[in-house]
Amino acid sequence: MHLAAFLNAGPMGTSGWRHPDADPGFLTANYYRHVAKLLEAACFDLAFIPDALSVPRSLGNSFAPAVQWGSGTPRLDPLVILGVMAGVTEHLGLAATLSTGYHEPFHLARALATFDHVTGGRAGWNIVTSFQDAEAQNFGQPTLPPREARYARAEEVVSAAAQLWDSWDDETLQQNKQTGEFGLASKVRSVDFRGDFVTTQGPLNVPRMPQGYPLLIQAGASPSGRDFAARWADVIFCSHESLASATAFYQEMKQRVTDHGRDPQQVRILPAATVVVGDSDTDAQQKHRAFAERVHPLAGLSRLAYHVNVDLTRYDLDGPLPELGEVGVQGHYDEVREFAQREKLSIRDIGRWYGARTEGNMIGSVSSVVDTMEQWLEQGAADGFMIQATHLPGAFEEFARYVVPELQRRGLHKSHYQGTTAREHFGLERPSRDAWQQRALRR
Ligand SMILES: Cc1cc2nc3c(=O)[nH]c(=O)nc-3n(C[C@H](O)[C@H](O)[C@H](O)COP(=O)(O)O)c2cc1C
Repeated sequence: MHLAAFLNAGPMGTSGWRHPDADPGFLTANYYRHVAKLLEAACFDLAFIPDALSVPRSLGNSFAPAVQWGSGTPRLDPLVILGVMAGVTEHLGLAATLSTGYHEPFHLARALATFDHVTGGRAGWNIVTSFQDAEAQNFGQPTLPPREARYARAEEVVSAAAQLWDSWDDETLQQNKQTGEFGLASKVRSVDFRGDFVTTQGPLNVPRMPQGYPLLIQAGASPSGRDFAARWADVIFCSHESLASATAFYQEMKQRVTDHGRDPQQVRILPAATVVVGDSDTDAQQKHRAFAERVHPLAGLSRLAYHVNVDLTRYDLDGPLPELGEVGVQGHYDEVREFAQREKLSIRDIGRWYGARTEGNMIGSVSSVVDTMEQWLEQGAADGFMIQATHLPGAFEEFARYVVPELQRRGLHKSHYQGTTAREHFGLERPSRDAWQQRALRR
């Protein structure tokens, strides 16, 4: 079973920062150092930082709600924060969310190859296509491009990055002080990638990285997102409201991976799990209730509006959620629809719930939480979990102190690292040069 930790480079969630045990120091290096050390001591495979390139402005076309409630802002640069975390760890995999919409492949390939070298093979990339108009407007575009155009660009950006990573062979550097030969020029080639969205000549100015390619993570949920993930992702991150929808997604994705000629064992699927643990189930539920009561409905709505990229103030907040058409994050919208229809919630109720959402229903005593995890693994819904913290560092501290020992006792989680790279932690092979060229969409 694989464990990844989802942590913002900023405050946690819409009300995580209000938790009595939340550390307000998310602008300091020590905050991230502390979390990194505790995740490594608990043998997590990966620390994962989500990201967005704006102060959200979806609710009422204003950034005021995001600032007022702390929903989706501030967000520090993930690679810088992961660099701080790398400095105090030796094994923990470190994944940054970086958008294909607003970066050039050369920038992305270079930053990730550099990061993989200096961390000894621990770099991961959560490939996102971005989902807000506010992000597009920070990069010279009037609105978010349609989903199909975003994925078409993502395809080019990742294909070009893969070619840049392949532009150096392993063992190109010689540094032969006797002969004066620094590197073997015959082992480096240019790329000459020409697409509709991006063009790059190459070669990259960073040698082939320890992992060959960074660990690729993807969380697209629309049909195009699922197809993209099935071709490119090593780890698929998803979010589900029920075991049934997680199982259906897991089976569909493993099938899609197989249909693309890839080994489904070489792709890991990690549903999000917000774990709230207590002395008993009742105690944990009380803890979660106390947390949920701190969520102002407008703070939750601001978060939802940001995720779906729709101004929900256009609708009657005491009425049901209408069909929203094309949304920002399809996966989050699907979950909300599923839950709101089942529970017959108004938009205002959805906001209250969404701000304190606990994916996977993992609220309970240690044994209840671990039973649920085991059930998800056994029923083919997960290869592990992306653990989401309600607040930091307390939620991860409790998970490490109470849940991890029980997982280890049941033989579900390791008690020491066997490998050193992120790919090794996930049981994934180191791909040979050019191996990923097969993943690119054949046109
Ligand atoms: C669980 C989950 C987490 C995500 N995290 C991010 C993120 O940190 N930043 C981001 O820009 N997009 C994030 N996304 C969005 C997707 O990766 C994707 O780019 C977006 O949903 C559009 O594709 P889709 O419609 O296929 O889902 C996330 C999606 C899901 C389901």
